Amino acid sequence: MDRLRITGGAALEGEVRISGAKNAALPILCASLLTAEPITLHNVPNLNDIGTTIRLLGQLGVKTHNDSEHTLTLSADSIDSLEAPYDLVKTMRASILVLGPLLARFGQARVSLPGGCAIGQRPVDQHIMGLEALGADIHIEHGYVVAKATRLKGAVIRTDMVTVTGTENLMMAATLAEGTTVLENAAREPEVVDLAEMLIKMGARISGHGTDRIVIEGVKSLRGTEYHIVPDRIEAGSFLCAVAATGGDITLTHAKPSTMGAILSKLEQAGLNMTVSDHSIRAIMKKPPLAIDIRTVEYPGFPTDMQAQFMAMNALAEGTAVMVETIFENRFMHVQELIRLGADIDIDGHTAVVRGVSQLSGATVMATDLRASASLVIAGLAAEGVTTVERIYHLDRGYEKMEHKLRLLGAQIERVSSKGVQ
Ligand code: EPU
Repeated sequence: MDRLRITGGAALEGEVRISGAKNAALPILCASLLTAEPITLHNVPNLNDIGTTIRLLGQLGVKTHNDSEHTLTLSADSIDSLEAPYDLVKTMRASILVLGPLLARFGQARVSLPGGCAIGQRPVDQHIMGLEALGADIHIEHGYVVAKATRLKGAVIRTDMVTVTGTENLMMAATLAEGTTVLENAAREPEVVDLAEMLIKMGARISGHGTDRIVIEGVKSLRGTEYHIVPDRIEAGSFLCAVAATGGDITLTHAKPSTMGAILSKLEQAGLNMTVSDHSIRAIMKKPPLAIDIRTVEYPGFPTDMQAQFMAMNALAEGTAVMVETIFENRFMHVQELIRLGADIDIDGHTAVVRGVSQLSGATVMATDLRASASLVIAGLAAEGVTTVERIYHLDRGYEKMEHKLRLLGAQIERVSSKGVQ
């Protein structure tokens, strides 16, 4: 199993290119199921979760061609299975995103129920409720969601909570339904907007995306198209937290700062000096960060996917930060590992109190989920001495070549596989 060995203490300096957003690419890949015509996608990040999605789509019969490292063409002209098996779904919850498209285009689907996951229970009841409202007949059988419909029919659907993949699944299903669907309490995340823009290029009639009320007028069929995936705001935010923790001067290119409002305003309060243009951010940090209180909420609020990385920065900040996680019930697993690096953090339920220390010291720590891994890497970059981050397969699911990008910024970081240093 691969590990990362980081010798901390170096300020980050240089330029790094931000990849396409994982959480936009995953639903957009699944949207290829909605048409028999080819879909060409640019700026697809090269990640393990993307590989898993391509394998899942391949099992269903979707043919994928790698036009270049970040450009793929997918063709769902001959589908030979309507089942997403447990073996793939258990490794990636986003596999549930094939449910809506399969049901809408083929009238049936059998998708394994994802299990619980490290950051919380994460049920899919809202996806099921919404598809039932569109007229699907759904039951759970042997751990699978078994769904059938002749043709889905538009409906007004109000989810109990804001759900990102739930909104995406229902939006995709509604594109081919008969009549108009209104999604109320819809997610406003930039990744939802990106999927909507892609579906519109395929011929879907969608309005209101980016607000909490999305209206979809169903069409009979969708067509092939070409699309560029939006830049990854969480990857960009993670690099900014890293420079805020280590100090230095970095420039992110191919980013989309307009999707990063809450992240950038918190970093500014932390003392990060940023020059922002349409697609790039230059960030300079010459002193320790200031402690920043955080409350995770849905977009446009502060994202849960940045909580762990901000905690690494707060661990080294001047002052005390109160960090409240409201989206997932178990997203503080990085805390015990940060404490191993010398952080001073108490947790009480959904709240962590982080008292900044002047120095962290390197240790061996274990990654427990994707964003926790990024937090440990950031802490390791700032810590004195050597930090080894184990189980970095979590990191590889969602960050493209992170250690390579950090090396370009002058970090001393190497991947150690069971076969030796790479
Ligand atoms: N929820 C339900 N029932 C549902 C759906 C959601 O109770 O049917 C609850 C969840 O348990 C959670 C809350 O609603 O407490 C919000 O969950 P949401 O459905 O929005 O999360 P998700 O769609 O499963 C996506 C991202 C996550 C990100 C969350 C929140 C993808 C593929 N994943 O998950 O990304 O944390 O939205 O923004 O888009 C990550 O990239 O590290 C990651 C975990």
